[in-house]
Amino acid sequence: MKKIKILAIVGSLREGSLNRQLANTAKEVIGDRADFELLDYSDVPLLNQDIEYPAPEAVKRVREAVKSSDGIWFFSPEYNHFFPGVLKNLIDWLSRPISETEPQVLAGKPAAVSGISPGMSGTGLAQDHLVTLISFLNMDIMNAPRLTIPNAMQQTDEKGNLELKASYPYLKKQADAFLSFIEKRI
Ligand SMILES: Cc1cc2nc3c(=O)[nH]c(=O)nc-3n(C[C@H](O)[C@H](O)[C@H](O)COP(=O)(O)O)c2cc1C
Repeated sequence: MKKIKILAIVGSLREGSLNRQLANTAKEVIGDRADFELLDYSDVPLLNQDIEYPAPEAVKRVREAVKSSDGIWFFSPEYNHFFPGVLKNLIDWLSRPISETEPQVLAGKPAAVSGISPGMSGTGLAQDHLVTLISFLNMDIMNAPRLTIPNAMQQTDEKGNLELKASYPYLKKQADAFLSFIEKRI
């Protein structure tokens, strides 16, 4: 059987992002059971229909990364009870058909959703909005388990480095579940 390819999409562009660190911890947890790549989309421009066709190079690259993956794992912060605009912008690009004959690349893709926040919400509200959007785009969503991690600072060192403790078993559970969710579909 071919090796599963998971693409992680982090909803924060911040270098020290907790969600990026969570994605990197998930990569460790997955280990050699799948290829696991974090999508770099910091160069994707703001969507403007005037520049939609032909698609900018950065858009072509992220579309290709999504297309060649077997599953997308979102790790998103919560901004004002929503997911960040940078992620909405990326998903808006991905939601558009590539051409008159090639459809958008998200439909049918298995998706998992996780997030971590310093506050009490653990990104739950942002996740609900994200799930509404990716459901509209026909992604194949693993609705359970989802992972919400509140009070992040209880699981970081004094420099803000993530050291998952209480949430680690839940991340492992979600990784196992997502791998078998994908396996059943390929
Ligand atoms: C514009 C903005 C709005 C925010 N709103 C929320 C919020 O609604 N809920 C929450 O838990 N944290 C909120 N935060 C705090 C973020 O959770 C925190 O900055 C987090 O570290 C961002 O994720 P990251 O570390 O992956 O970049 C907000 C931060 C910003 C910049």
